[in-house]
Amino acid sequence: EAAEKGGFEHFMLKEIYEQPKTIRDTLSCRMTADGKQVRFDELNWTPEDVRSIGKVLIIACGTAYHAGLLAKYFIEKLARIPVEVDIASEYRYRDPLTDSKTLSIIISQSGETIDTLAALKEAKRRGARSLAVTNVVGSSVSREADQVVYTWAGPEIAVASTKAYTTQLAALLLLAIYMGQLNGVLTTTAVTKLLQDLKKVPDQCEDIFSQVNTVKALAKAFTDHEDAFFIGRSMDYGLAMEGALKLKEISYIHAEAYAGGELKHGTLALIVPGIPVIALATQGDVEEKMISNIKEVKARDAYVIGIAKASDREVGKTVDVVLHVPDSDNFVVPILAVIPLQLLAYYAAVLKGNDVDKPRNLAKSVTVE
Ligand code: G6P
Repeated sequence: EAAEKGGFEHFMLKEIYEQPKTIRDTLSCRMTADGKQVRFDELNWTPEDVRSIGKVLIIACGTAYHAGLLAKYFIEKLARIPVEVDIASEYRYRDPLTDSKTLSIIISQSGETIDTLAALKEAKRRGARSLAVTNVVGSSVSREADQVVYTWAGPEIAVASTKAYTTQLAALLLLAIYMGQLNGVLTTTAVTKLLQDLKKVPDQCEDIFSQVNTVKALAKAFTDHEDAFFIGRSMDYGLAMEGALKLKEISYIHAEAYAGGELKHGTLALIVPGIPVIALATQGDVEEKMISNIKEVKARDAYVIGIAKASDREVGKTVDVVLHVPDSDNFVVPILAVIPLQLLAYYAAVLKGNDVDKPRNLAKSVTVE
């Protein structure tokens, strides 16, 4: 097993560090040689295929569901098609409004999650077209869906998903661009600009790894507390949910994600001096709003770790400490900004002496209901 871990103490850490490669692998086969357009040879859609979609329905569980939450922003903003995101175990029992104008996108690392597979069958039964985004070739979900987009993350061993999530984000962002490119919502210039930023991501991951000692030191902030909060707006809200899940899964610290604007509707009551709050503030269009939310928790003496783009000068002024992620397009930056969250959760779990790769009560793939 030590050999399989390639010198890393845990599979999870190894998998975090594999992300430059897995993201590169997921991206490279889906761009034209000149890097100016998205191509999905496995889909080969026509403009009409995209124009006939009335609604996109995304179904998944766990981390894959969190990738779906971001995909809603990607597809709605870049292709202007309405998107609904549902948890597989909710979808299958709610008598959903799905029909032949629905494109269902099923996200599953393993392709074997029982609820996800059942939800896919339910969507098909109601006449939806189906597209699986999965990491395992030949998995049940890949065989059941009409079409498949593979994430090329390679085998993921640690129960807490890391590289599968970032490759899901990369594949889903490419898919949204592809849809926008085909239905004419995106100009060629806009597509090229997004792809330029996407191509930089693998190298930019290394930039984040170079801050690992800072992240390691910050992980201590969590271990003295029983709770932690993750706040964000827009795509950073989806990312906050993934950050909170990572921390819960492996460090067993109770973590909650909140949309910045919802703080005053409940969570503020729980903010006490010293409580760790991770404030994600990478989205320029809502930065001002996010900064007022940060001030709300700072006024109650929370310990705030901010995550902002490298060129940002504002977030750093209001938080206790800021972690910078490389500058990138708003749609691309979540792929980078999740990496410090993965590392924070990892080091918090290590500090607590937990079994990082096999957290208590959890399984890698949930094949029973
Ligand atoms: C389990 C795993 C999670 C995963 C979820 C969905 O809960 O522990 O890491 O996100 O299942 O798995 P899937 O294979 O369908 O993506």
